[in-house]
Amino acid sequence: MNTNATSAARYSRGAVILHWLIALLIAVNFGLAWASEDQPRQTAMQLMGNHKAIGILILLLTLVRIGWRLTHRPPPLADNLSAWEVALSKVTHVLLYVLMLAIPVLGWMTHSAFSGGQPVSMFGLFNWPGLPMQQSKDLAESYGGGHGALATGMLFLLALHVAGALKHRIIDRDRNALARMSLRRS
Ligand code: HEM
Repeated sequence: MNTNATSAARYSRGAVILHWLIALLIAVNFGLAWASEDQPRQTAMQLMGNHKAIGILILLLTLVRIGWRLTHRPPPLADNLSAWEVALSKVTHVLLYVLMLAIPVLGWMTHSAFSGGQPVSMFGLFNWPGLPMQQSKDLAESYGGGHGALATGMLFLLALHVAGALKHRIIDRDRNALARMSLRRS
């Protein structure tokens, strides 16, 4: 069991809230994309309308999160990690940030090419502008393919990310491994 001062460090409350809010929205967005398959057109359009609005929200929250990350120092990693674990966790985190930006931007490009630059309705509250693009089915298909491929890549990274956290908690028996990112403050 690791009880030293380094392992007891935690992420700031803002970082924790952004982490779990974005995680929840990403899970919902995968669910909406998968649920829209094999649905009647009208239902699929409604589900995808929410998928697009939530995706734009994820993009905006990710920008806030990157701003927060640059202005708030994260807690040091536990000092019982080996060099390869530190390297793997850093690479995974950076790639997750890249995908949290690239996936919504490619989705936005897919929507814009498909619709010829129409805005995205944000839950009927206001419109998010479309990108200035000519309507092109071919381009929409290419962007959509890239969007789906990166989303699949994100699933692998998320599995690695969760496996890493669980390994530290269960195999390394570091009690603080999950508490670092917990909403509960003890
Ligand atoms: C982190 C945010 C997002 C995630 C995780 C995500 C995930 C996905 C997934 C898993 C699919 C199904 C891909 C497939 O079946 O091959 C999909 C499809 C789609 N998404 Fe997203 N998406 C996100 C954001 C967005 C945004 C912001 C938009 C548009 C504003 C968008 C528009 C679309 C469209 C139009 C499709 C259908 C693409 C096609 O059929 O070729 N997505 N998305």
